[in-house]
Parts: sequence; structure tokens; C-alpha cells
Amino acid sequence: MAEDLTIIKGESKEEQYDSLVPQIQALLEGEDDLIANLGNIAAALKEQFAWLWVGFYLVKDEELVLGPFQGPVACTRIRKGKGVCGAAWAEAKTFIVDDVEEFPGHIACSSASRSEIVLPIIKDHIVIGVLDVDSQELAHFDHIDELYLNKIIAMINA
Ligand code: SME
Repeated sequence: MAEDLTIIKGESKEEQYDSLVPQIQALLEGEDDLIANLGNIAAALKEQFAWLWVGFYLVKDEELVLGPFQGPVACTRIRKGKGVCGAAWAEAKTFIVDDVEEFPGHIACSSASRSEIVLPIIKDHIVIGVLDVDSQELAHFDHIDELYLNKIIAMINA
């Protein structure tokens, strides 16, 4: 496919994801390089939703290491159990944080971040990384985001 996206604006969150998810699927088809695919997923999500930060951390040598992302510069390494990302890794579950200041141990990569969703990427029952999204708005993410972002994660061939 041509490497540009059709971005719909002013629609519901579901309609935006419904438009974007097949386009991401098409972007990933025929490419098996993990970093290339994570880069395009981060770029596509950022372009559609204009979130503050969207990207990946990958498990390497018992730490999460910064992977492909879009947004302000971020911390490069996160230990297991630390911050929202480290918690999602340690507990192998999604965290939706309405107010990052209320999350014990939250790691503030950007002072502009107010709410966050982190989803584990699980392959063969092992967390191999996380998808992290930050918003400048409080309580920006909900279970609709969780549902669709999990669909996108399921397309990752790692
Ligand atoms: N806030 C995250 C750190 C990563 S940045 O948001 C990009 C956390 O608490 O794990």
C-alpha cells in the first residue's frame, strides 16, 4: 500500500479506530521486522489521535528499553515493577491511569502527561514489551482504547 494514512477527524473514538486499524494491518503486511512495524504503529497512532506520546518499551536483559515512539524524548530504561510501564510488565496486565499524579511510582518522562494507558505485549505467555500512550488530558483513556490497542498489539509479529 502507499505509505500514507487516511486520517478521519471529528468522529467518535470507535470510528477513528475502525478507520485506522485496517490501515495499520495493511502497513504490517509483508513486513516481519519488529522495529519497522513498531515504528509505523507508533507513527500511525500519533497521526490519528495526536496524543502527547505513543511508543514501545521492549524487554531486554531484565529491563524495559525504549523502542520506537512518537513524541517528546523519554526515559530509556525502566526496571520491572517501576512506574506504570514496569507494573504492566510485572503484572502482565493493562493499566489505565486517569491521573498520573495518583499512581504511586509513576515515572514522569514529560511533565505535560496527565493520564496514561500501558498494555503488555505478550507472546507465548511472556511479556516481551509494552505499548505506552500518554495524554495531556486527565482521564483520557478508557476500555475502548484498551480494546482497540489490544487488537493492534495482536497484529505484532514478534
Ligand atoms: N510514565 C511511564 C514512563 C514512560 S513515559 O510516560 C514515556 C511510567 O510511569 O512507566
